[in-house]
Amino acid sequence: MKNINNYENKKDYWNPELYDNNHSFVSDYGSSLIELLKPDSNETILDLGCGTGDLANQIYKHTPNVVGIDKSYQMINQARKKYPCIPFAVKDITHFDSLQSFDAVFSNATIHWIKQPEKALENIYKYLKPGGRFVAEFGGKRNVQTITNEFIHQLQEKNINYNHEQFPWYFPSIGEYTSLMENTGFTVTFAEYFDRPTPLVGEQGLNNWINMFSNKMFENLKEDTKRMIIKSTEDKLKPKLYDGKQWIADYKRIRVMGVK
Ligand code: BEZ
Repeated sequence: MKNINNYENKKDYWNPELYDNNHSFVSDYGSSLIELLKPDSNETILDLGCGTGDLANQIYKHTPNVVGIDKSYQMINQARKKYPCIPFAVKDITHFDSLQSFDAVFSNATIHWIKQPEKALENIYKYLKPGGRFVAEFGGKRNVQTITNEFIHQLQEKNINYNHEQFPWYFPSIGEYTSLMENTGFTVTFAEYFDRPTPLVGEQGLNNWINMFSNKMFENLKEDTKRMIIKSTEDKLKPKLYDGKQWIADYKRIRVMGVK
C-alpha cells in the first residue's frame, strides 16, 4: 500500500467532534444502505469514506473483515479511537493502491466529494474481486441546491469573487453516473434517485452545516466576511427552510449497486 502516509497527520477541514455531535444523521441514514449491501460473514468489505467509523462498525457486526478508508486524517484518527478492532487508513480512492481485493466496496455520503469520479470508479472496479459489488449512496443532481444557490448569490451580491472550481461537490444525475459505471465495466443492477429532506437540528442547524461542510467555498474569506455571508444566507433561507424548530435541507440522493 504505497500512499498510506501521504495524508497521515495532515490537518484538514474536517472536525470529527462537530461531525459526531451534530451530524450523526449522516451515518444514521447510511444504516439502511447496509441493508442493500447485505454483508455476509466471510466477505471482505471496503468502506470508502468511512468518516469516524460508525458504519464500518455496523458492517463489522456482520463480518470482521471490514477495512475503512478516508482522506481525512482527523476523521480516521477519531475512527481508530472509537473502533480499535477495525483497520482504518488515511487514503484517497483516486490514488488507491492495495494488495488486497474486496467482495464489496461500500460508500455512504462520500462519492459527491470526489471530483474525479472516473478515476474513483476505475480503482473501485480494480480492487473488487470478479463478481464483487459496489454499493453507494451520495448526493445527486440538485442536491442542497436551495442552500448553495443562495450562498453563491450572496457572494456575488457582495462582489466577492466566486469561481465554480470552489464548488466542493460533484452531484451527477442518475443517468450520468450509471453511464460512468457502465463505461468502467460495471453491470448496474440497481439505481434510484430520491428526495430526502434532511432536518438540521436547532436554530443553529444551517450555520453548523455550513461550517461543517462548506469550508472550501470560503477558502479565501476573512472570518468576519464568512460570518456575514452565512448570516445573510440564513436570513434569506429562513422562510423557505426553517419550520420554527429546525432547518430542513433539500437533500437529493442517488443509490446504486454495480457488479464487476
Ligand atoms: C450530502 O451528503 O449530500 C452532502 C453533505 C454535505 C455537503 C453537501 C452534500
